[in-house]
Amino acid sequence: MSQTKRIVVLISGSGSNLQSIIDACKTGFIDAQIVGVISNQPKAYGLTRATDEHIPNRVVDAKALNVSRDEYDMVLREKIDEFMPDLVVLAGFMRILSAEFVSQYEGRLLNIHPSLLPKYKGLHTHQRAIDAGDKEHGVSVHFVTAELDGGPVVLQAKVPVFTDDNTDTLATRVQQQEHQIYPLVVKWFIENRLEMKNGVAMLDGMPLPEAGYAAD
Ligand code: GAR
Repeated sequence: MSQTKRIVVLISGSGSNLQSIIDACKTGFIDAQIVGVISNQPKAYGLTRATDEHIPNRVVDAKALNVSRDEYDMVLREKIDEFMPDLVVLAGFMRILSAEFVSQYEGRLLNIHPSLLPKYKGLHTHQRAIDAGDKEHGVSVHFVTAELDGGPVVLQAKVPVFTDDNTDTLATRVQQQEHQIYPLVVKWFIENRLEMKNGVAMLDGMPLPEAGYAAD
């Protein structure tokens, strides 16, 4: 019998995406166990969610450590590796990771980004979509590479942008989609259906298009 796969989730805030993956593991939709949650923010509500679910959780606080980015990433790696994960999931983890860190977990490091990549890498994605007058916006799940928000997309979900939207209404609409697509992508990975090969995301052995699977 094969061993249950191990997932570590990195967070900085509310952890609603963490919750969606916790729930998907509990129902058996994802056949894996979240073995650890790590936050760079001591007050992240996601830590409470982890504790409530009896998931071991750690804080790696950059302010308290007061070290360089590379040194921070080394500490983070140590904490992650203690959990011996098969997959590392970035779920609203709001730090830029060094190339060395990323290469350590290449092919088993996923991120969710609140835009239709390659549009709006970086911060303030909802405001930028509104300011640009976009009619549609959305979210992307992608493999992480050394290029910020630049790794191959696995799955996107689109939402409409209405004329009376503000960042809150738009973020809420996008997050509803986030909670649908992230557990699905994690499930694919855990079932060995999803991999990154030569910088390309592959599902069931077939390369995914630039916008990922089922873009429409
Ligand atoms: C999510 O909307 C996610 O897309 C975004 O942070 C939020 C975290 O929410 N991620 C990024 O902006 C990464 N650049 P959550 O803590 O409730 O899951």
